[in-house]
Amino acid sequence: MEQGPHYATTVRERQRAEWAAVAPGWQRNRERMSGPMSHITGRMVARGGIETGHRVLDLACGVGDPAFAVAEAVGPEGYVLGLDLSEEMVEAARSWARQLGTENVEFRTVESELELGVPAGSFDVATCRLGLQFMPDPMAALQEVREALKPGGRVVASTWGRPERNPNFSLPMEVISRHATLPEEDPGAPGLFALPTPEDLEVLLNTAGFANVESSAFDTPVARAKSPETFWHGVSTIAGPLVSLLASLTEEQRRAIREDAAETLGAMFPEGPVELDGEAVVAVGTKTV
Ligand SMILES: C[S@@+](CC[C@H](N)C(=O)[O-])C[C@H]1O[C@@H](n2cnc3c(N)ncnc32)[C@H](O)[C@@H]1O
Repeated sequence: MEQGPHYATTVRERQRAEWAAVAPGWQRNRERMSGPMSHITGRMVARGGIETGHRVLDLACGVGDPAFAVAEAVGPEGYVLGLDLSEEMVEAARSWARQLGTENVEFRTVESELELGVPAGSFDVATCRLGLQFMPDPMAALQEVREALKPGGRVVASTWGRPERNPNFSLPMEVISRHATLPEEDPGAPGLFALPTPEDLEVLLNTAGFANVESSAFDTPVARAKSPETFWHGVSTIAGPLVSLLASLTEEQRRAIREDAAETLGAMFPEGPVELDGEAVVAVGTKTV
């Protein structure tokens, strides 16, 4: 995508539409998704040094995972504020909070990751799980996050690792590519794999002014499904970027893709359950001044 004057607005509009389309799928599948994802969350809570009583800002909060896990870690004395571009995701998070009866967490929609609407210096930790890579200027977003942190506060962010290490996404893409011409990818453009290495996050956090930056890649469970069909249903209702790609195809192409996916995954997992692991990156940095 050309980086003209409307680049950032166009990226956000696209993201808002993509995630609004999958918010119902995320809402229906939140418990199922949060199981495997809890491995990334656990690492973020530990690396971020999140403790009882902390005030935590969770940017790109989605339907509230990891915000609820963080809310548990900070306890009733603490507070978590989840912010997201998508009203639909935020509404789903609020309904989950009502259902769980969680009182130390709040969710708000933001127009942009550059307008967080929070007082400067008011949070102990900021988290962003699997969100930075979709932002038009993640470094600028991190500068805003830094502004919101107290001196000594920490940011902890995670992204997906390299595509070849994440078959949960690369395998569906491979299947889709057998039946449709995929749009040309600009490697620098925001998307699932825009920040796939520890070095990418390290550079971002350092440039945004954080100190003591540490970053590492690790293997993690990603998808767990009862059968290839259930797995594919998940892909086509949850995986934001893939869902919009599928929506741009004809019904006939989608049917052929669905059948191909069932066959490909059936051969890989003849016993039934589909278990795909992947690679994620977690980085942490401190606001020293
Ligand atoms: C892959 S989901 C991750 C949600 C949640 N953090 C999680 O780990 O489950 C990406 C989220 O980023 C949000 N998002 C994308 N671009 C954003 C932006 N520029 N500012 C804030 N949120 C954004 C989307 O609306 C979506 O909820």
